[in-house]
Amino acid sequence: MNKNVTIEDFRVHKKENTKFACLTAYDASLTRIMSEAGVEMILVGDSLGMVIQGHDSTIPVSMEDLLYHLRCVKRGNISSHIMADMPFMSYATEKLAYDNAMRLMQAGANSVKVEGGEWILKTTELLSERGIPVCAHLGLTPQSINRLGGYLVQGRDLDDKNRILSEAKQLENAGAEIILLECVPAVLAEEISSTLKVPTIGIGAGSSTDGQIMVCYDVIGAYSWEKQPKFVKNFMNEANSISEAFGKYVEEVKNKSFPSAENSF
Ligand code: KIV
Repeated sequence: MNKNVTIEDFRVHKKENTKFACLTAYDASLTRIMSEAGVEMILVGDSLGMVIQGHDSTIPVSMEDLLYHLRCVKRGNISSHIMADMPFMSYATEKLAYDNAMRLMQAGANSVKVEGGEWILKTTELLSERGIPVCAHLGLTPQSINRLGGYLVQGRDLDDKNRILSEAKQLENAGAEIILLECVPAVLAEEISSTLKVPTIGIGAGSSTDGQIMVCYDVIGAYSWEKQPKFVKNFMNEANSISEAFGKYVEEVKNKSFPSAENSF
């Protein structure tokens, strides 16, 4: 029987206005520590291309890479919800989306995450109709970094803001169970979170989203050769162990002290 945190648990958080904490993970050991620390969702993110493999983007990450790390995470997990990222171009066509989502779910994912707006509506609908919970990732979508021109805050001007809001609503109607917002102004994330019925997760999106997510290496200061984005907080500065740092992250998300205004746009 699946004992992991479910999509329904995230819906309850939204309904009861309580926050949930999510982190990325790529290996069994950190997964175990964060699952024990109360992290409710673990994303096997394609950020592994940067923090594990040392690339300067997520684009080189393959399905085989993702599956390898997903299996490691699954072995370390206690009861967190495991979401798997669909890597660059792994959902570029309906056939690819079916095949690759199936592989991720059969390897132990509880849900999948896809980046994009209108162009992923059909994919979201098809996967969702077939019983796969889909999280749609809006705002700064790192797989489109070459089109976006950099890791920049999205939704600052009115047209862009209205586009992201409209895409969030359309994705919810298409069956997305969760909307993840990356690097958007806090006011926009607040408007989207209060408009949608499904839970939202934010990174660099202020404190109004229902859940928060961070790259686990950022939480423990292990990815510090890059310039730290504003939304990153190193919880090791106030902790004596990785376990304590993850616990502190969960506590601050739940008591709404993280992210603060200084971590937001
Ligand atoms: O791959 C990843 O780590 C992500 C998070 C930044 C949300 O998509």
